[in-house]
Amino acid sequence: MGDPATPPSSELAAMAIVDGASLKHPFSDRVPVRSIVCRPDGGAGLAGNRVRAGGWVKTGREQGKGSFAFLEVNDGSCPANLQVIVDAGVEELSTLVQTGTCVSVEGVLKVPPEGAKQKIELRVERVLHVGPTDPAKYPIPKTKLSLEFLRDHVHLRPRTNTISAVARIRNALAFATHSFFQEHGFLYVHTPIITTSDCEGAGEMFQATTLINEAEKLEKELIENPPPTEADVEAARLTVTQRGEIVAQLKAAKATRDDISASVAELKIAKENLSRLVERAKLKPGIPKKDGKIDYTQDFFARQAFLTVSGQLQVETYACAVTSVYTFGPTFRAENSHTSRHLAEFWMVEPEIAFADLQDDMNCAEAYVKYMCGWLLDKCFDDMELMAKLYDKGCIDRLRMNVEWGIDLASEHERYLTEDIFKKPVIVYNYPKGIKAFYMRLNDDLKTVAAMDILVPKVGELIGGSQREERYEVIQRRIAEMGLPLEPYEWYLDLRRYGTVKHCGFGLGFERMVLFATGIDNIRDVIPFPRYPGRADL
Ligand code: 4AD
Ligand code: MG
Repeated sequence: MGDPATPPSSELAAMAIVDGASLKHPFSDRVPVRSIVCRPDGGAGLAGNRVRAGGWVKTGREQGKGSFAFLEVNDGSCPANLQVIVDAGVEELSTLVQTGTCVSVEGVLKVPPEGAKQKIELRVERVLHVGPTDPAKYPIPKTKLSLEFLRDHVHLRPRTNTISAVARIRNALAFATHSFFQEHGFLYVHTPIITTSDCEGAGEMFQATTLINEAEKLEKELIENPPPTEADVEAARLTVTQRGEIVAQLKAAKATRDDISASVAELKIAKENLSRLVERAKLKPGIPKKDGKIDYTQDFFARQAFLTVSGQLQVETYACAVTSVYTFGPTFRAENSHTSRHLAEFWMVEPEIAFADLQDDMNCAEAYVKYMCGWLLDKCFDDMELMAKLYDKGCIDRLRMNVEWGIDLASEHERYLTEDIFKKPVIVYNYPKGIKAFYMRLNDDLKTVAAMDILVPKVGELIGGSQREERYEVIQRRIAEMGLPLEPYEWYLDLRRYGTVKHCGFGLGFERMVLFATGIDNIRDVIPFPRYPGRADL
């Protein structure tokens, strides 16, 4: 039976829209700025609601001879700020107006006077928190700051419009990635970050070792507590002999049981001391070596290990069992590139599909990139508008463009491709085998491999993928041909030895996708904490 006091549901919905409490963040007492200003009406329909809001002051100015202040407050939930008005009687205004100040305030939403840019503003009645900023010291003042300058302040740069917009775009692309693959029945597999295989065979791996810190620790310890000399060891050995003799003498003299056990105990202590000294005398500073080479059997994993350059080889083991999989994680490359397209640590999305060939691979890559573009237009339009305004007026149109595939690359095409066709994404496939990795499937011409790269404007290579060589004899020959050792790839060859299957996959450089979407020039500005030669802040 309906409660006569309960309004009908349409009325309830209408109330929810204008009820400040329902706008509240689920795990905080404040209302995110986004829920106020990003509504289609710009927030106007919320007038009259009492809310708490919090964020950092972008700009602030005292007005009316210091009787009140306007604050533009941003909490990173959207590019837009909330305009906040505080009267002098409520709080000391000179602190509040400084760029970078954190405020938490409570008040009533009001429609600003006619002619104002904002559709809504917050009239403050109580200031709940102020996190002040000394304007003389704040590293990111109100002035326009270059992205290069901001790289020296990676811990504060998320407070800028650009970096927070990039963070939201990255977040959206990550969500879109999971959404795309989950919708298409792919299983998310966590591949290892520490690995003992070099996927690309390019020898660009960072080593993961504890040998160096162990050696440093030992060196320090040996300085504080020098190892025993030969004379120390000899003296300890002599003590053992002497104590042994005492035990023998007591036994021969039929001494009391207590006297004998006391001397045996002394002997035991002397023996322990000797073996400790013998062990310590063996300690040598430096990295352990055997036959002139570093002895990795003494390393943490008892073998040489690295940070992964790609999760592909490992994710293939799941593709060859559960058919459609993807991995999405950080990858590491120790190439000494100082370009605006390379990072030493970057994120890669790598799907792998069993019972599928190069054509299927290209179709999947194309659908995935299009899905991400559509997702950004749909979910991040305000951030994209900011990118268009600040960095690249063509970026929104680019997201609307389709990927076009089917160009068979020959050298005479290259310039045409980069200078003319590059206005659109292009897929290049069937590369000469000599320039590609060992795992790519050899074509019937025996000269090219079933590889494909997706090249996009502004970025160049966004995706690299291939059909994998599923024929045991062929892949074995390819590994040998490339001068790679077979032993570390035995497990990979097992996938071909036992129940081999046609399969393919690709890797999308996640930061390059952000570059492509935003039109930002340097890859160091689209990852929160960039790592590149000479730099690894925080
Ligand atoms: O073409 P890559 O080297 O392919 C692979 O690693 C394959 N194992 C992927 C696969 O088939 N599963 O790298 C894939 C993508 C490149 O197209 C590029 O977008 C990006 O990763 N990438 C980098 N991004 C930033 N910094 C670097 N140093 C990068 N190296 C590659
Ligand atoms: Mg590549």
